[in-house]
Amino acid sequence: MKVLLLNGSSHSQGTTMAALQEMVEVFSCEGVECEIFQCGAKAVADCLQCGACARLGRCVIEDDGVNMFVEKARSADAFVFASPVYYAHPSGRILSFLDRAFFSDKGYEAFRFKPAASVVVARRGGCSATFDALNKYFGIAQMPVVSATYWNSVHGSVASDAPKDEEGMQTVRNLARNMVWMMRCLEAGRKAGIALPETERGVVTNFVR
Ligand SMILES: Cc1cc2nc3c(=O)[nH]c(=O)nc-3n(C[C@H](O)[C@H](O)[C@H](O)COP(=O)(O)O)c2cc1C
Repeated sequence: MKVLLLNGSSHSQGTTMAALQEMVEVFSCEGVECEIFQCGAKAVADCLQCGACARLGRCVIEDDGVNMFVEKARSADAFVFASPVYYAHPSGRILSFLDRAFFSDKGYEAFRFKPAASVVVARRGGCSATFDALNKYFGIAQMPVVSATYWNSVHGSVASDAPKDEEGMQTVRNLARNMVWMMRCLEAGRKAGIALPETERGVVTNFVR
């Protein structure tokens, strides 16, 4: 079993990373493989809505890791999407990244029916709005959402602040344990022969007449 964690900060060793590392320690103790994927500090383009992904099966923009992330997602069993709070919303970087990852992966094949959770970090405010925005990806892609003992947030301006938010760190540790539990339940269900549900397609109403 493998968890793929996305760090939506440009800081590879910032507060978001500190929260993710807290989860990685739990995953390691539980014997669950994990990988942190960095959105990085280079520019991440927004979706062009050019339609090329329908033809190519991948995003036409090749140079910022989105396609590599989707390829890794195909063999992952669960996801954590983590972002710093910027003006009470996720980083533009992670939104552009995830918009293109989800829009280019038709049918959300790499993501659907796999457990997921979002984690946010902030100096002070805007955590729950940021958390809500990231959770929207799970809702449209049939992904079971893993919860914890609070809305997953850790406070800090810089990485060294994170351990001082003891409840925040406790929350993400609980989140990691709950994610492992859900992954094991799903695995047990698969082994017991419980098939994935059918998905109806074909009705698309755009509310434009
Ligand atoms: C453009 C920008 C906007 C920010 N907006 C907020 C905010 O709305 N609320 C808040 O508490 N912190 C805000 N911050 C602070 C970051 O969320 C905080 O420093 C966080 O720890 C950065 O995480 P990182 O080190 O993983 O990048 C903002 C930072 C930047 C650069």
